[in-house]
Amino acid sequence: MSLPQFAVFGHPIAHSLSPRIHARFGAQMGIPLHYASIDAPPETFAAQLADFARADGTAANVTLPLKQLAATQCAELSDFATRAGAVNTLTRLADGRWRGDNTDGDGLVRDLTERHALDLRGRRGLVLGAGGAARAAVFALLDAGVAELVIVNRTPERADVLADAVGEPARVTTRYWEDLGACGNFELIINATSAGHDRSTLDLPFAPVAPRALCYDLSYGAAAFAFLAWARAARAGQALDGLGMLVEQAAEAFAIWHGVRPETDTLFAQLREELPLRATD
Ligand code: ATR
Repeated sequence: MSLPQFAVFGHPIAHSLSPRIHARFGAQMGIPLHYASIDAPPETFAAQLADFARADGTAANVTLPLKQLAATQCAELSDFATRAGAVNTLTRLADGRWRGDNTDGDGLVRDLTERHALDLRGRRGLVLGAGGAARAAVFALLDAGVAELVIVNRTPERADVLADAVGEPARVTTRYWEDLGACGNFELIINATSAGHDRSTLDLPFAPVAPRALCYDLSYGAAAFAFLAWARAARAGQALDGLGMLVEQAAEAFAIWHGVRPETDTLFAQLREELPLRATD
């Protein structure tokens, strides 16, 4: 009997850790599966997803730059995916169409609150960026009880669109990037921009970093190095990348598909050794 087929779609996709993470979870939980990576540029993603379904694909993850596009391919969306406007987890329904979930926000909150024991309630946070990753982070942090969020984006109109989508002006406001030095300081600073992926650096003053602030980049590996170096230079209490979020969002997708949630700490510790928080050379 052939194994149930899973895949991650993205572009580029060669370095994705998802096949390894899901194979490992499957082995851990005694669930045989096959998990591939599929390079899919936005122009051909819909056709490739249809091919995957025809080849009996059971479910899939979706990563950059396809998360918003994936939402348009779904017959059904979870409430959170609807609010985030982005999907990272696709599950085939009985009628062959796709249901979309978004486990990124849950992954972020679990990593912050469970792995790093941070109490988010009542905190004042700053979110840099207003794309799909930022949207998931903003809704999840608010759901988790963060008191107030300020969103700052290179293109200010996108930050306003996100704040309007939340619709809680007492909790979520926007500021211009140029005014970052005069917005007070924050206990939680989330880098949800994609700047690190093309190795561009963000122009950030130190003023927003509160003493003992936690600075968190949603990216991991080398893409997070520049932001984490800034956070350490600004004397943040903690400077973390999104490796924990990656493992947690995968565990959450695994739970949606297989009905059981794998243990994540062992795999996280292993991946952390391979992907340290700063350059080793
Ligand atoms: P994602 O799904 O990762 O969120 P996205 O929707 O393309 O990807 O959003 C990328 C985010 O990173 C945006 O907020 C983008 O700012 P703009 O809206 O102005 O494009 C931000 N970003 C990317 N490169 C950046 C850079 N060099 N400096 C500042 N912001 C950057």
